[in-house]
Formats: sequence, C-alpha cells, structure tokens
Amino acid sequence: MRTKVYDNVVLIGFMGSGKTSVGKILARKLYKDFVDVDTMIEAEENASVSEIFENKGEAYFRDLESKCIESLTQKKGQIIATGGGLPIYSEISQKSLIVYIDADFDVILERLPKKEKAKRPLLQDVERARELYAKRIDMYKDQATFIVDANQSIPTFIHMIVDYILDQRVL
Ligand code: S3P
Repeated sequence: MRTKVYDNVVLIGFMGSGKTSVGKILARKLYKDFVDVDTMIEAEENASVSEIFENKGEAYFRDLESKCIESLTQKKGQIIATGGGLPIYSEISQKSLIVYIDADFDVILERLPKKEKAKRPLLQDVERARELYAKRIDMYKDQATFIVDANQSIPTFIHMIVDYILDQRVL
C-alpha cells in the first residue's frame, strides 16, 4: 500500500484551543517552520484581528484568511496554525495533514487567560461563542486527518500529535 505524503501540517480547532502554542512546540520538536495565519494577516494589514473585524468587517477578514492559507500551502514542510474560523470559511489543501485540537468548550474557557480572550472578537459573548462551538464542531471533525483529545494534559496531547506525525510522511 502506498502511504500518502503530506506537504504541511495544519492545526485546526476552536478559538483558544491552543493551536498557536502547540504549533510552535511541534515545529521545534519536528524541525519544521512554524507559521500562524492570524499573525501573518495582522502583519500584512498592520492591524490586530480585532481592529480588522471592527474597521473592515468579518467578510474582509475571511477573504484574507482564504488567500493566506492558499498561498501558504503552495510551500512545504511547515506547521501552520489557523484561526478557528478558517476551516469553516476556506478550503485547506488536500495535501495537508490536518490535526483537529479537540477540547471541550469549558476546558478552552478555563485555560484561556483574560488577555487572550480580549483579543478575540467572537469570544466576547460567551453564550454566543458556545453556540458557535456547537455549530462548528462537526465541520472540524469532518476535515481532520487526525483528531486529538485536547482535554488531557497539554504535554500528553502534544506527545500524541508528535507520535502521529512521526508515523506519517510530511515533507
Ligand atoms: C476566529 C478565531 C480567531 C481569529 C478570529 C476569528 C474564529 O483565531 O482568527 O478572531 O472565527 O473562530 P483563534 O482561533 O486563534 O482564536
């Protein structure tokens, strides 16, 4: 049987599930480059995600996200952290190994420092965010190559992702 060769690892999951922090650790452990879609957009626009939402609107942000993931996945060998809405509004290249960081909504809220919560416009109203979580969860699962239970301790689930990726072929 031929094994599939992936170009990149793409981390998906709800806001605040730890995609960026986990991505940086994975990149270090696996000797890959790390890129964060939100950070790239903020640098290109010279504005924070909250400012982009406020001044240009969510649709404008979604368009930037689509362009960003499209151009990033032309390259290889990266660990890419996405914003929580990216897999809902954009296509992710089929050549990506997509890891869904699957944490319960309450676990996410508990782990997230206040400063991090303040950066996320869609997390300001907790009950609406809970509904968004419920709406999105199946879409995350459907797109994932690998789903990791992120309710366990952070080092434990990072270890599981590393083991999985090492079993695959990622360029
Ligand atoms: C969003 C998630 C955020 C950011 C934006 C919208 C979403 O990224 O892209 O606030 O729609 O879930 P994180 O997942 O890093 O919080």
